[in-house]
Amino acid sequence: MKCSLCAAAILICGLTAWAHEGHGTAHAPVAAKKLINPLTSSPDQLQAGEALYGKQCASCHGPDGKSNTAVARKQPVRPANLADYQMDSMADGEIYWVVKHGIPPSMPAIPAATGDSSVWQIQLWVRELRIKQRAFERARAGITSGTCLPDFLIRTFRKTIR
Ligand code: HEC
Repeated sequence: MKCSLCAAAILICGLTAWAHEGHGTAHAPVAAKKLINPLTSSPDQLQAGEALYGKQCASCHGPDGKSNTAVARKQPVRPANLADYQMDSMADGEIYWVVKHGIPPSMPAIPAATGDSSVWQIQLWVRELRIKQRAFERARAGITSGTCLPDFLIRTFRKTIR
């Protein structure tokens, strides 16, 4: 009995640590939260962001941001799922910061010659990946856009009806 309780506790701790590792836990300094994207999202900016993302990020994070790529599987640390709900807790400035500085040793910084506006265009596209995934999840759960429900409720609801 004692042993199985212990095993359960170890399992729970292990799972928590694993979950922490796999998603967007803060790598950027707190000050990065305050950085503001000078660009406004528009079809042109998103198109530019998507192209840059395709060249600099998709090998690891995949075109859909879900990091289901052969390169991702070879990484010592699993690349974050950029379409996941946990991305909602990352500020624009934090995304900008990790793109610019990388996350040693697993994620390279963007080449130093990349202009600031390109980095912000990538940031806009990273947000778009999450926006697309959220719309997909809501549609699958049969919830029309404009419904003001938090994502965790939608996920619970989806599991119940599945
Ligand atoms: C060589 C593979 C690789 C490439 C290329 C790469 N990443 Fe990553 N990325 C990772 C890994 C691995 C992590 C998880 C790092 C960790 O948690 O220690 C990560 C994490 C992230 C995170 C979450 C950061 C956080 O604070 O948790 C974001 C956002 C991100 N990457 C965006 C990008 C963008 C945008 C690009 C392109 C400019 C990019 N990555 C290029 C491997 C990569």
